[in-house]
Amino acid sequence: MEPPVAEALSIRAWDGAVEATPEAARRPAPTAAYGDVPAAFTIGGRVRVTPNVVLAPMSGITDSVYRTLIKDLNPGAVGLVVTELVSIEGLARRDPRTFGMLRHVPREHPLSIQLFGSDPVRMAEAAAIAQDLGADVVDVNCGCPVPKVVKRGGGAELMRQGPVLGAILRALRGVLAIPYTVKIRAGWDDTSRNAVEIARLAEGEGAAMIAVHGRTRLQLYTGHSDWDLIAEVKQAVRVPVVGSGDVEQAADALMRVRTTGVDGVMIGRAALAQPWIFRDVAALRAGIVPRPVTLAERLATVDMVLARLDAELPPEAALGRARGLACRMIKFIRGGGALRESLTRLPSIAAMRDQVARAAAAPEPDDDIPTPPPRLLFH
Ligand SMILES: Cc1cc2nc3c(=O)[nH]c(=O)nc-3n(C[C@H](O)[C@H](O)[C@H](O)COP(=O)(O)O)c2cc1C
Repeated sequence: MEPPVAEALSIRAWDGAVEATPEAARRPAPTAAYGDVPAAFTIGGRVRVTPNVVLAPMSGITDSVYRTLIKDLNPGAVGLVVTELVSIEGLARRDPRTFGMLRHVPREHPLSIQLFGSDPVRMAEAAAIAQDLGADVVDVNCGCPVPKVVKRGGGAELMRQGPVLGAILRALRGVLAIPYTVKIRAGWDDTSRNAVEIARLAEGEGAAMIAVHGRTRLQLYTGHSDWDLIAEVKQAVRVPVVGSGDVEQAADALMRVRTTGVDGVMIGRAALAQPWIFRDVAALRAGIVPRPVTLAERLATVDMVLARLDAELPPEAALGRARGLACRMIKFIRGGGALRESLTRLPSIAAMRDQVARAAAAPEPDDDIPTPPPRLLFH
């Protein structure tokens, strides 16, 4: 018997998490596969990150609304969330928009507030504010590649300014009771892949965790994250190391912990298309092969995201975010092309939700989007 249309679409949908076949979903659970992978670590002797899977900081995305959404979609499966990068200059100016970025709710904890800038005194003042407002961890951004940020000495420029980074971290030690951490890149460019050196410097100045995105500043988001280098950083320091870059599927997260020895992994872009990916990592760890997310479930999640944005953000900001996130979430669905097209044009979130509801009731196959090849579940 032919499956109903919605089911057929969902089976062909590819969310990168599992092989998209009913056989895969029925396969025996791989209990032996990931049971041995470490599941938690502690930052600075006081912040327990369990499980050891972290929502990566993403500018313009990981605000309080998105962080709580991810926590709610993945109960108990996100060990730490990190704010988008927050300007220490904005905080020094008492800019209301910047202060708004520190807003959070109790169920986000443990929460890391990420700061960027290059002035040690201002960094310390900003960190003290973050601590007073309830941060569990303060993170210093040493990876942002954006010209506006690096020109002022912040972000990835700190990979080239060891003494400045040292001064920043010493200033934090003077004001913080909570742990402080750094998020670095592989280096500035291929001629200076100095992540190991910067990680040692940061540890020496009291950083309680090092997160490493294994691309250089010059690479931006091209090429691949260098997990061999991330593994070298892990070998070089005693504080926890969290790896970042190209965790595309649930199995990747566990595979990276196992093969590089890192204490944890961050998931960034994959969480945009598959906001349930943390749940899938938890399932795999428990020996359960996550079943493919059905089209109906995916569209219900899109609707939930739209409803949250509508309720919690000002209308214009909500609409822009809604378009971006909805499109990411339906990117890999066959039949998603027409839906995506219309969602980017609709003038309000209410209209978008109507459209999603119509798609859920009568999905229209549309073959204009190639289905990416399934990747192996076990590495
Ligand atoms: C849209 C976007 C915004 C980002 N913003 C930040 C940021 O504010 N702070 C930061 O440390 N990294 C930022 N990153 C880098 C991510 O945290 C992560 O290291 C990188 O995307 C690689 O991981 P992924 O392949 O899982 O996405 C951003 C990445 C993206 C795609």
